[in-house]
Amino acid sequence: MRLENKISLVTGAGNGIGKATAELFAKEGSSVAVVDLDGDAAQSVADSINDSGGRAIAIKVDVTIEQEVVHAVETSTKELGEINVLHNHAGILPPGDASILDIEEKTIDAALAVNIKGMMLMGKHVGRAMRDSGKGGAIVNTASDLSIIALAGLCSYVTSKTAIPGLTRSMATDLAEFGIRVNAVSPGFTYTNMTAGIAGNEEIMGAMKETYLLKQLGQPIDIAQCVLFLASDDAAFVTGAALTVDGGHVVT
Ligand SMILES: NC(=O)c1ccc[n+]([C@@H]2O[C@H](COP(=O)([O-])OP(=O)(O)OC[C@H]3O[C@@H](n4cnc5c(N)ncnc54)[C@H](O)[C@@H]3O)[C@@H](O)[C@H]2O)c1
Repeated sequence: MRLENKISLVTGAGNGIGKATAELFAKEGSSVAVVDLDGDAAQSVADSINDSGGRAIAIKVDVTIEQEVVHAVETSTKELGEINVLHNHAGILPPGDASILDIEEKTIDAALAVNIKGMMLMGKHVGRAMRDSGKGGAIVNTASDLSIIALAGLCSYVTSKTAIPGLTRSMATDLAEFGIRVNAVSPGFTYTNMTAGIAGNEEIMGAMKETYLLKQLGQPIDIAQCVLFLASDDAAFVTGAALTVDGGHVVT
């Protein structure tokens, strides 16, 4: 098992990719703090991990509020132990995202608050906890294929996700001296609630698949497997990197 006796905190773990990561981490021997704005979804993921013989707790948190982030880190540490791994994943496709010509202030604010500020706050407080433990750790931030390329009409989302490889390099630089590695995964289109709105449109989906070298789109487990790699000692010599997990989308 690749995370035996580790303690992990996963944000956005109530659904989709974060849920797949939380479940995979548990299977690999880690205790998991399942953190999400949706407390019921987080509880259901934690229950299912506990029912399968793993160890998990649910914590309802809005990652955009620093006090709540502090609460998540303190609760996780108190109930499970010192955090070794963070999958810093919670993020949104902000409702009303648009072209730069039509973007509304509230959409910009929502994207920056969750996708950048939330990730920075969680990185700050888990980073401090890992530093104080003296045992190092591994952090994986979720970026996107849209950290590398743009799609029309998604100006706030593309801008916010493009910050994540930079945040990852910055965190890797600041935290290396404490034995903390920081990397990012950059998923391509993955079937989750976030993408459910377009997943039903066969015309768009067919055209999109053609732009993926592997002619298929992602499932949450495809991304979770790569998060596990970066979080585990298999990636002991990897820090500051962003691993694209997109079926070859951005190279076409
Ligand atoms: N699905 C994709 O195609 C895709 C591609 C690239 C990157 N991503 C990234 O994945 C993340 C979204 O995950 P998903 O695709 O599994 O979607 P999802 O909607 O299934 O899950 C996102 C989870 O984040 C939680 N969340 C939202 N705002 C929060 C907040 N303020 N505090 C705490 N939790 C919050 C939601 O409640 C939800 O459970 C984002 O970071 C997104 O940029 C997704």
